[in-house]
Amino acid sequence: MADKKKQKTGPMRLDKFLGEMGYGTRTQIKEMVRKGRVQVNGQVIKAPESKLAPETDQVMVDQSVVGYARMEYYMLNKPKDVVSATTDSRYPTVVGLIGDALRKDLFPVGRLDVDTEGLLIITNDGEMAHNLLSPKKHVDKVYMARLSGRLPVNAKERFSEGIVLDDGVKTLPALLEYEGCGNGTEGLTEVLLTIREGKFHQVKRMFEALGCHVEYLKRMSMGPLGLDPELEPGQYRPLTEEEIRSLKEAGTGK
Ligand code: URA
Repeated sequence: MADKKKQKTGPMRLDKFLGEMGYGTRTQIKEMVRKGRVQVNGQVIKAPESKLAPETDQVMVDQSVVGYARMEYYMLNKPKDVVSATTDSRYPTVVGLIGDALRKDLFPVGRLDVDTEGLLIITNDGEMAHNLLSPKKHVDKVYMARLSGRLPVNAKERFSEGIVLDDGVKTLPALLEYEGCGNGTEGLTEVLLTIREGKFHQVKRMFEALGCHVEYLKRMSMGPLGLDPELEPGQYRPLTEEEIRSLKEAGTGK
């Protein structure tokens, strides 16, 4: 399959281009263009419907160059007290943390709870997001959890058979690995859990079903993409070409 990232975007209307890059509503943009605030390749263009080549033409609004990206991909180490959403009235959002974003239509690939930290992909690639989140594609997500309470001796087997949650729904099999039993931070048991779905509060509810409480949760990886250990909570970086390619492949179930 051809790599879409390499494909050139075809001719696009000026107002659509500015809309995608977050310069306001269609009406606001039309007004801005008609007032002569927008230049393409150094010429004032007053027709919002004029066509341009987004990757090669230079667009300026009020003398500032408008950067263009068809697709953007970032890896964020989500901190706690930030929501996995594009807008929120109470908390800052993960999308708001991506200060270098060119586009205004970025969204997080899936959700982490407000108190969960770790790997979150932020993009505007809807197809990739859909494929990575589809339970049918079986993309593994690995979480590190610190638990209070005592896991039953057969916890590993029970996870491997799938866990019946509080609503009676059984999860797909999951892999439990022990990192430290009762010797971790503040005497908590530290484990890694690999799951293939993304049910609501899934990890927390799986451990609750076994009589334990998740005190701290961090996503370590999603498919082939591991959280970059250089990223502190709240920090992000663009994904590399290689990382984007491997995520697309993972989402096709190859
Ligand atoms: N499972 C949870 O319980 N919470 C998360 O944030 C992610 C997975």
